[in-house]
Amino acid sequence: MRRESRRVSDGRPAIVVARDAAALAKLAADRIASALAEAARGSAGARPVSVALAGGRTPRAAYVLLARDRRVPWERLDVFLGDERCVPPSSEQSNLRMVREALAEAAGRLRPEAIQAPWPPEVAAESQGAGPPAPAALERAARAYETRLPERIDLLLLGVGADGHVASLFPGSPALGETERRVVPARAPVAPHERLTITPPVIAAARRLLVLVSGADKAEAVARALAPTAGPDAPPARLARRATWLLDRASAAKLSRA
Ligand code: 6PG
Repeated sequence: MRRESRRVSDGRPAIVVARDAAALAKLAADRIASALAEAARGSAGARPVSVALAGGRTPRAAYVLLARDRRVPWERLDVFLGDERCVPPSSEQSNLRMVREALAEAAGRLRPEAIQAPWPPEVAAESQGAGPPAPAALERAARAYETRLPERIDLLLLGVGADGHVASLFPGSPALGETERRVVPARAPVAPHERLTITPPVIAAARRLLVLVSGADKAEAVARALAPTAGPDAPPARLARRATWLLDRASAAKLSRA
């Protein structure tokens, strides 16, 4: 597998480009596994190792490969989601469902409560009702998830949307200005609209940060997020500029070669 990579030496982001989506999934699974193994080695005794995973379509294939990787400290792992849509865990749009299904092969090694569901079942069920859940219910859910989220996540994996959003931090979202809260309700411009999302302080505090992006429709957002200087309309993905960016050639196509 031929990869182009650029190391962080002068504050530029670390970028690794894989040939295509399949090669990217392998690369991502390898990087996630080695980061979690490193976190386990570096943390005392039985302290849980925490990972917050990205939702959406892109990471599923990597998670399936990851589930077979014995380097991962599965028995010590706490699995969070960087964001979640307000839908029941049975929904096809549920990030929780995607992660549970993709990590199924590791289920026997994960503790039963390891994968942390963002939404209390009653709130997720309410989302199927006539209207969105009450703001108070969304707020309660955000605060409950916030209390479970460790101060510093050992590994945070983010995806990027074509509009440059990360987690459910969309361009113009009030949550982008959050400095205290670590999990807040958010509204997405696309359905399902009601979301829970981590905030910029969580991204800044993460011990290890990976960004995984695939597809030509993301190339513009990637280039803007990684541009040497932040334009006035820098996308939320720029919050993860210090990360190691795992890209396929299509999503890396607009990166300056300089
Ligand atoms: C979500 C995600 C979101 C995702 C991007 C990319 O719930 O949608 O967590 O931040 O990472 O939208 O999604 P795709 O991989 O599906 O393009």
